[in-house]
Amino acid sequence: MKFELVVLVLAFTSKYPVKTACHLHYSVFRQCALDALEDMAKWFSEQDGEVALFDATNTTRERRKTILEFCCPCDNSAAAHSRQYSVFFIESVCTDKCTVYQNIKDVKVTGPDYDGVDTEVAAQDFVKRISHYQSSYEPLCEEHDRNLSFIKIYDQGEKFLVNKIRGHIQSRAAYYLMNIHTAPRTIYLTRHGESVYNVLGRIGGDADLSIQGEEYAHRLANYIEKENIEDLTVWTSELKRTKQTAEYIKAPIVNWKALNEINAGKCEELTYEEIQEKYPKEFAQRDDDKYRYRYPKGESYADLVSRVEPVIMELEKQENILVIAHQAVARCLLAYFLDKPAEKLPYLKVPLHTVIKLTPYAYGCKVEYIKLEVPAVDTHRSKPKVVQETRSSEDALSTVPKHL
Ligand code: G3H
Repeated sequence: MKFELVVLVLAFTSKYPVKTACHLHYSVFRQCALDALEDMAKWFSEQDGEVALFDATNTTRERRKTILEFCCPCDNSAAAHSRQYSVFFIESVCTDKCTVYQNIKDVKVTGPDYDGVDTEVAAQDFVKRISHYQSSYEPLCEEHDRNLSFIKIYDQGEKFLVNKIRGHIQSRAAYYLMNIHTAPRTIYLTRHGESVYNVLGRIGGDADLSIQGEEYAHRLANYIEKENIEDLTVWTSELKRTKQTAEYIKAPIVNWKALNEINAGKCEELTYEEIQEKYPKEFAQRDDDKYRYRYPKGESYADLVSRVEPVIMELEKQENILVIAHQAVARCLLAYFLDKPAEKLPYLKVPLHTVIKLTPYAYGCKVEYIKLEVPAVDTHRSKPKVVQETRSSEDALSTVPKHL
């Protein structure tokens, strides 16, 4: 099914990470300027685009009208027949002066406009800029805009006004926006300790930790204790290797089936060499399009993104969480927080015995990799140069990491 949705983000100096509202699943066209509407239409028709996201700061009713007339023309023209996009407005209004000022200092003064300018001077200047915007800005109005689809967020989620939500994506975006929060917090992400199967180069299964993996479980518990994290909760999958990794951590533990490793179907518990030998065509197809390729009787990365979405929604609601997951699942979580595109997702590097510390901020996420210095095998297989089904075994196996 194809979606064509235009989302106008009217984020008036708020701290909301609205850009991620439609991030999950859809290919998103992002633009700041409204003069890119023709480019957007081209993108929808030629590249099977699904969602376009516009930053329409400092908007007016007239500008909203221009968008609506472009997206939903009601004349008899060819454009009117080919173009009937649904339009959804997101407006975030923040009236709390301290929050606005803090947001300016966190985000605005570090931009290119204020390069080399003292932070306080830059912040004062931006406050003046806001007053200027206020003179022309026309907020969404319950009465005047009653026929539009929109969500209006007051003071970072203190109150919401939701109007004429239509369809699947709009309701998901509204649900997402009503669940995220902007309180400072850290998400710690790690894979389980090295497993017996990792050592043997086998994928999937439900193996125990290796001796080195067991050592990582101890080191991880020490590291977490030293971090002294307030109200930490640990999330694991339902597989033994993640539960064993969490064993020594002094914090409440929740097991999620949705965090289980990608299901490799008929390739479960095989090595890459065995998959190449038994199913060479399948192996090549996966290399050709690793994000969309679905293992027979198993899952694709695209399936996995759908599976972990409820976990992501829940993560957005929570404060400090340590997620102990698996290589493919960790890639999906990382791609979400670091805003990586689908084609890069299956190749993100998530080494064993490393804690990835994610600290979301207003318009991004700080990422730190902390290696806990316990040796482990490498399980990362990069995309080989040759992906055709007719390739030699040598080409197919050229990037397989070493194992026993
Ligand atoms: O299949 C299990 C692996 O952890 C995921 O690895 O998707 O890079 O083959 P892969």
